[in-house]
Order: sequence, then C-alpha cells, then structure tokens
Amino acid sequence: MKREIEKSRWRTRKGKIINVHSFTPSEKWFDIQLDDGELNHRPGQFVQVGIFGVGEIPLSVSSSPTKRGSFELCVRATGRVTACMHKLHIGDYVGIRGPFGRPFPIKKMRGSDLFFVAGGLGIVPLRSMINYAIDHRKDYGRIIILFGCKTPGDLLFEHEIEAWQERTDIKFACTVDKSDPEWKGNIGLITSLIPGVHIDTENTYVIVVGPPVMYGFVIKELLKKNISEKKIVLSLERHMKCGMGKCGHCQIDHPKNYYCCKDGPTFTYEEVKDAVRL
Ligand SMILES: Cc1cc2nc3c(=O)[nH]c(=O)nc-3n(C[C@H](O)[C@H](O)[C@H](O)COP(=O)(O)OP(=O)(O)OC[C@H]3O[C@@H](n4cnc5c(N)ncnc54)[C@H](O)[C@@H]3O)c2cc1C
Ligand code: FES
Repeated sequence: MKREIEKSRWRTRKGKIINVHSFTPSEKWFDIQLDDGELNHRPGQFVQVGIFGVGEIPLSVSSSPTKRGSFELCVRATGRVTACMHKLHIGDYVGIRGPFGRPFPIKKMRGSDLFFVAGGLGIVPLRSMINYAIDHRKDYGRIIILFGCKTPGDLLFEHEIEAWQERTDIKFACTVDKSDPEWKGNIGLITSLIPGVHIDTENTYVIVVGPPVMYGFVIKELLKKNISEKKIVLSLERHMKCGMGKCGHCQIDHPKNYYCCKDGPTFTYEEVKDAVRL
C-alpha cells in the first residue's frame, strides 16, 4: 500500500466527476471517482487537482477515508483554476495527484475528546476528520464542533450539519457574523462561543481550521483555557506547486523552514507558534 501511495504522488490519475452540487454561488461540492482505484487518503490531507491547459491547485479532501469508491472536494471560486472547476459537469475529468501532506494525528488523538473549531471553508478538511471520528465513535471521547461563517447563506454541508446537530453524542454550535430574519442561531464571532464550552483540559485535542486571521483570536481563547500548545492542531495554507517538498514554494517563514506541503499542512500550535501571529 505504501509503495502504491508513493507512486501516486508522481503521476496524475484520472478522476471522473460523478456528482456536483452548488452550496453557494461561490462554493461547489464535487464527488470524484478515480479510474484506477481508491485515493487512500487520511483526514487532513490534500490532493493536487489539475485541469489540462489551465493549471493545478491544492484542495483538501473533505470526505472521510471511511467512504469508499469516491472522494469529495469543496471548491471556492477565487481565480483561474477554481473558476474553471466550477464550470465542470458530471462526467468531466480532472487530474489528481496525491494524497499529500501530514494528516491530523488520528492515532495520537485516540481516546481523547475532540474539539473542532471551523471558520468558513475550514469546515472542508475538518469534515473529513469529524466523519472519520463519527465512524470510529468508540475510539474518541466527546465530540464538540463550533462552526462560524459570515452569513447564514454561507453555510456549507447544511444537511450534514443538521444530522450532526440531531446526534446526542455530538455537541454542535454554529454562529454567523451577520444574520438574516430567519436565522435562529448565534450571532457573533466564533471566539464568542469558546468561553462557554466546557473542556477537559488534560484530555482534549482542539483542531482549528479557518482563515489566517481567525487563528490568533481562537488560539488566545484556547490558551486561556490552559489547553496545551501540543494539543492545539492547525491546518495552514501556503501557495503550492509540487505538493511534495521539491519546489520550495510553500516554505513557512519559521526558524525550522517547514514546507507546508510535506511537514504540514497540519501542525501543532507548539510547532508553528513563531509563524502564527497572536
Ligand atoms: C493545503 C491546501 C488546501 C486547500 N484546500 C482548499 C479547499 O478545500 N477548497 C478551496 O476552495 N480552496 C482550497 N485551498 C486554496 C486553493 O488552493 C486556492 O484557492 C487555489 O489554489 C486558487 O487557485 P486559482 O487558480 O483559482 O486562483 P489564482 O488565480 O491562482 O489566484 C486567485 C487568488 O487566490 C489566492 N491564492 C492562490 N493560491 C492560494 C493558496 N494556496 N492559499 C490561499 N490563497 C491562494 C491568490 O493569491 C489570488 O488572490 C487550499 C490550499 C492549500 C494550500
Ligand atoms: S509545494 Fe513544492 S515544496 Fe511545497
């Protein structure tokens, strides 16, 4: 299996789009089936997605590896390649390299409570870990999920979120920066929800993924709760080309010269605190 994964890093595999859904005008979900087998990723990893003649970009895998047969991506249209992806339909093909990157520390987290903090598109990689933990429910303690986005119209994976909310073994809260008349949930930044969450400090991993501006504020709140820097896990984004530690594009401004694609994208706060401004 290891050899297979190593080989797939170098070659582009054919991925057929078998389902597409628009969550919002700028975010689309894709279900992709590889022509030659499984992706065999782990939660927190990403793939390099190529469109012939346009370019190649890193995208987080959003489905759990427990889902077999295909894998899912969620793409925000921000530029050339992502806009082109939004024009693709069921039956179209993309190029897939990977999976790449260090996954979330699934084994280390076993036996612990999991506290997920997702801002906006951060729910995309976190969803892979959340659904993995749900599918291995006995391996993990409490599951707490906080999700923040700009407006109710920006909510992603709405039906799945409703299912998480209905489960008695998950504590879920969602907040929006700006509401509309129909919104019945919280209003305010995601940091406003953290003080109200009871955490077993010794036995909790916090996994935080969101826009860069969010990390400092969230981490400050977590440190106030005495969570160890080793148990705060982040996923960082940098511009990438090769995805496998060869080109240097994703180097992080840090004394250890981490490559985000290979040493990350997941890091503990302890590892990258010099690169994350509080
Ligand atoms: C590990 C990783 C996982 C990612 N996962 C997702 C995901 O699941 N869904 C998703 O929609 N996006 C994700 N991204 C961001 C995505 O790769 C960029 O939006 C994409 O590369 C932009 O390509 P483009 O050709 O459409 O835009 P371009 O035309 O190249 O650029 C458009 C704008 O996007 C900015 N941009 C380009 N690349 C990045 C980047 N890597 N990070 C931040 N800003 C960038 C540019 O500076 C520019 O302002 C991820 C990035 C990384 C590094
Ligand atoms: S993307 Fe090339 S070294 Fe990270």
